[in-house]
Amino acid sequence: MNLKDISSKYSSSTKSNNAKAFLKFKDCTLHLHKGYVQNNYIVEYNDGLLMLDGASRPDVDSLEGFITKDINRSMSDLRLIAVTHCHPDHAGAAHLMRKKFSIAIAAPESIDLWYSGFGGALQHISDTLQSTFMATQMKSGIKWLYYKRKLNPDFILSNNSRLPFFNDWQAINAPGHTGHNIMLYNEKNSIIYIADSIIDNGSKFLPPVPVLFPEMMKESLAMIKKIKPEYLLLAHSSMPFLRYNEQMIDSVIKKIDAKDPLFIRFFYLLSKFTGQYRALKK
Ligand SMILES: [Fe+2]
Repeated sequence: MNLKDISSKYSSSTKSNNAKAFLKFKDCTLHLHKGYVQNNYIVEYNDGLLMLDGASRPDVDSLEGFITKDINRSMSDLRLIAVTHCHPDHAGAAHLMRKKFSIAIAAPESIDLWYSGFGGALQHISDTLQSTFMATQMKSGIKWLYYKRKLNPDFILSNNSRLPFFNDWQAINAPGHTGHNIMLYNEKNSIIYIADSIIDNGSKFLPPVPVLFPEMMKESLAMIKKIKPEYLLLAHSSMPFLRYNEQMIDSVIKKIDAKDPLFIRFFYLLSKFTGQYRALKK
């Protein structure tokens, strides 16, 4: 299944000019903000805004502009940032936004275990460099990506737990890429934000890099099939909103056991020194 096949199933009810796109539901509007190397999603309700994932550090100012000028809301309306995992393009802006705008952060329980200890500190540096490399590949320019490796979330999200302030959204455990990834699911509007569970590289749908726990990754993708949402939101895709397609998910599951090139396996190596990796492999 390639992007062209999926595009033909792309919803005509969405509005998009690539950089800004939105999808309207009865009770909310889902906005896409193109971040430094990833998609950021803001869910707009009359009584507040929810940000799906914690973006990259260089996104802080453009997110502020997007919320105050494009959506025409105040930063104080942004009540929660729900972070799916610890990587620089998913947690990198969350710290600064909490400090600057007093926004609460919700995240999986073990998120701060990943970068703990000496192995975790090395992994954090490696992941930050990897994101910089990704930015050069995407021609996004080299920017300062450093962020604190410990998130210290204000709210802990366990499997199936409802998001604070936005109880129509729930966390769904989705380990595989790291030991603690979650997806964010809205049953009422049949939307799931899957973060890095599937990557769209512009021509193919692929598993993320790295997949540290292949069997867990397969189960996480199988969970999407079980849920069968109408819309899938990916952190890395040129398409803002994807219609659910089971064949696409099956094709990604099949690729999980494929042997990665050597330079990708280098990134796997460091992860093996993180505390959570060792604990989960036991
Ligand atoms: Fe990631």
